[in-house]
Amino acid sequence: MAIVAALWFGCYGGVAASVEGSSRSAAELMDAVMWNREPIGGAFELIDHTGKTRSDRDFRGRLLLVYFGFTFCPDICPTDLQAIGLAMDQLGADAAQVQPLFVTLDPERDTAEHLAQYVPMFHPKLIGLTGGAAAIHRAAEAYRVYYKRVDFEKSTADYTVDHSAFIYLMGRDGNYLGFFPPGTSAEQIVGMIKPHLDAGPKK
Ligand code: NI
Repeated sequence: MAIVAALWFGCYGGVAASVEGSSRSAAELMDAVMWNREPIGGAFELIDHTGKTRSDRDFRGRLLLVYFGFTFCPDICPTDLQAIGLAMDQLGADAAQVQPLFVTLDPERDTAEHLAQYVPMFHPKLIGLTGGAAAIHRAAEAYRVYYKRVDFEKSTADYTVDHSAFIYLMGRDGNYLGFFPPGTSAEQIVGMIKPHLDAGPKK
């Protein structure tokens, strides 16, 4: 069920950027990821926190850590983004081979300007991605992400976004390599990335 409480015209060429929500149930989508039942990933075209259009093709040649969430998320998102940031630090020079991406599921509030305030708190290399509701919806569907807007009170505009919180590891050609469940430590993330790193010249 798509819940569109209000049409909101942002800076995305007049495209409404409210929270759309996934077309399938949480259980179905969690199952698809956890039991590897469906392909994960695919093309996206979104806007980064500097206002630049970014597609999946821009990141070919690098490993991707892809995380979907929203900046108003009280605990899960910041915890996982912190682990991603720490993992990048622990990778040292090898971090150059890895690009972390944070895709918002709440484009209504997470504008490029807002993401620009948020992503540097976790890592200087973290790229925040937003866009129109339809573009976000397409990206979330491709990664089998569950999300749904939940209003706190009927009388206010205040809401949260329920969402699945897997961290996806994607390969250099955009292929899916695996996922980390929410709450994965930085050490575990590094451990799963290491086998995919190019050895490069030994120093
Ligand atoms: Ni969250």
